[in-house]
Amino acid sequence: MDTITFAIESSCDETSAAVLKNGNVISHVVSSQYFHKKYGGIVPELASRAHVQLIDEIASRCLDDSGMMRKDISLVAATMGPGLIGSLLVGSNYAKGLAMALGVPFMGIDHIESHLYSCFIGKDEIEFPFIALVVSGGHTILFLAESYSSYKILGNTHDDAAGEAFDKVAKMLGLEYPGGPLIDKIAQAGDAGFHRFPKSNIKSNPFDFSFSGIKTSVLYYLKKNYGSDLSALPLNDIAASFQAAVTGSLIEKTIKAAKDHNIKIIAVSGGVSANSGLRNGFSEYEKKGYRIYFPEKIYSTDNAAMIGYNAYLKFKAGLLSETEKTILQNAYARFSY
Ligand code: KG4
Ligand code: ZN
Repeated sequence: MDTITFAIESSCDETSAAVLKNGNVISHVVSSQYFHKKYGGIVPELASRAHVQLIDEIASRCLDDSGMMRKDISLVAATMGPGLIGSLLVGSNYAKGLAMALGVPFMGIDHIESHLYSCFIGKDEIEFPFIALVVSGGHTILFLAESYSSYKILGNTHDDAAGEAFDKVAKMLGLEYPGGPLIDKIAQAGDAGFHRFPKSNIKSNPFDFSFSGIKTSVLYYLKKNYGSDLSALPLNDIAASFQAAVTGSLIEKTIKAAKDHNIKIIAVSGGVSANSGLRNGFSEYEKKGYRIYFPEKIYSTDNAAMIGYNAYLKFKAGLLSETEKTILQNAYARFSY
């Protein structure tokens, strides 16, 4: 029998729904809250209110696009964290309500783990072990993935996440939020060798990251050389040089982790995995025998397809947790009068 998974993602500023048939995405809708741009970053309360307004429309549109009926759904999943608490509550409660109404299991899904598996959406099989770099606006984590739900954290960031550094440097350059995609775009016409921003190394753990040093050095470089006159900035070259420093550090540490663990499979995911410099840099290692997986670009940034895919993998492996079963039983007990 087919497993039809209906998934919701609402952890930050994307309201998204997806329908998957046996792990294959058959419809997918993502709506991004662009209004945060004028505040220069995400305003949590406004984000959750916008989710409330949109969630039913997005969910219904996604189901319509899939050609499925509500009664066809076998499993409902939603992001439970990490993320903005108000935003998470909107999506997870909507999904729980739907699961209760339909009498199907609900699965609360981890956002970071879902990014990790987003690389394999549409692929036939996932081969363990592999090294996973999850690099987003809130996290920069290097994992050794040994099996479904068995991961060792090899490294983490000591300060900013890589995406956060992209966004903050973009702001210094006068670019809109979120600045990562804009830096990526203008860096393509720039010279990465224009200036060498320092890559930081953490002595206590070679797999840990730090991006606040690179960010501060961009700030001092701009102040020293251009003062407050942004019009004279060689934007493309600075963007390219900054991007090279960040992606260089991500690639070096990931490859070192792969070498040290004698692993040739690498999966790179999260919003920053959309970056073309990062994709090009890693592709060099394919020539050296590494198998490098990136998500399709639509699955790099936040999306419900990865939540549904992760839920399906767990469901198939029989990993429906006791909490989830209890939520269901309690819900049915309350509704069966
Ligand atoms: O995974 P994501 O959508 O949300 C979080 O879970 O954080 O990641 C968003 C982050 C933002 O910081 C954004 O600037 C960054 O990913 N990002 C990029 C690119 N596309 C998104 N950074 C660099 N280059 C890109 N092309
Ligand atoms: Zn994310």
